[in-house]
Amino acid sequence: MRVMSPEEEEAHMRKQESWWRRPLVITMAIVMALALAAAGCGDDDDEGSGGGDGAASEQKADKVAVLLPDSKSSVRWETVDRPFLQKAFDEAGVPVEIQNAEGDKSTQQQQAEQAITNGAKVLLLVNLDSGSGAAIAANAKSQDVKVIDYDRLTLDTDATDYYVSFDNEKVGQLQGQGLVDCLADFDGTPNIAVLNGSPTDNNATLFKKGYDSVINPKFESGEWKEVADQSVPDWDNQKALTIFEQMLQKADNKIDGVLAANDGLGNAAISALKQRKLKQIPVTGQDATLQGIQNIVAGDQCMTVYKAIKKEADAAAKLAIALAKGEEPQEETTPINNGKKDVPSVLLEPVAVTKDNIGEYIGEPDFPKKEEICTGELASKCEELGL
Ligand code: BGC
Repeated sequence: MRVMSPEEEEAHMRKQESWWRRPLVITMAIVMALALAAAGCGDDDDEGSGGGDGAASEQKADKVAVLLPDSKSSVRWETVDRPFLQKAFDEAGVPVEIQNAEGDKSTQQQQAEQAITNGAKVLLLVNLDSGSGAAIAANAKSQDVKVIDYDRLTLDTDATDYYVSFDNEKVGQLQGQGLVDCLADFDGTPNIAVLNGSPTDNNATLFKKGYDSVINPKFESGEWKEVADQSVPDWDNQKALTIFEQMLQKADNKIDGVLAANDGLGNAAISALKQRKLKQIPVTGQDATLQGIQNIVAGDQCMTVYKAIKKEADAAAKLAIALAKGEEPQEETTPINNGKKDVPSVLLEPVAVTKDNIGEYIGEPDFPKKEEICTGELASKCEELGL
């Protein structure tokens, strides 16, 4: 054994001496920890018991199932809705399973049935059309399972309990007004093409109602000319490309503005214009996707609609969590009629985003990040815009 130097020896002695204090310190720490736990201040990450908010956290929660529609009609479902919903349920300690039907109605029905068999007591449903959505809701109701329409209202059913979305007519109005603003300096009568969303999505109907209220008066007064107006089945971006190519063909390439119902459809129009080497024209969008924002920075798109999806996910999760705990949700709701029933609803506000106000939203948790947007040749454009 090595002999200690006098200094080492002294240090060793001091360490030894301080040992007598240890039990006292440890005992005090234990007493304090017990006191905190008894007062409910401790960390509570017990699976399934709920966390954080007072009495509600004592309640054991049932399972929730989220049924997403697809991953192609908009990137939002997989890249924004899924992670924020997952996070909201995880943070509350409520078990959740999230499925995506990839555009197939019978797959979605099977996923709903399977989830109920697996013990789900609440469904958060983004329907693929009202018929299949109503069938899922009816089946759920017959088994005492609650249904929340997430983003898309299911029409003509008495089996849904809540609806969480945005003011979708307002979304359309913002798109219509966006196109008007982007064409303000147009010399002459612009030729306009309209690319509507899926005819089976109630939101697409509401968006159209909103933008038609702004653009139809322009057509009627002769200020603008409508050269095409077509719906895109299932919001399919590939079909949108073909449809828009045909629109260009028919209009002899003379299209001066496009009302596209979301960023994916807008991008299809932009791709077709680029393929034909036509100049940039105002194109609208929705969802503030990375591609949409990049198209705006590049000057290929004139606006998008930003819907704070994290807020939507959190509002829906809050309702679902209360229901999963067998509680009455406390959220303020407004009644929205689905054709058969007034559904208590939470509707959030959308906002228009153009190159002039992108900077205000960068930093929002569900908005594309600056590093993602301003890559490659967009870096200098971002600088020009002060991003
Ligand atoms: C949603 C949009 C989305 C579209 C296609 C609509 O119901 O509200 O955000 O772009 O579906 O998925």
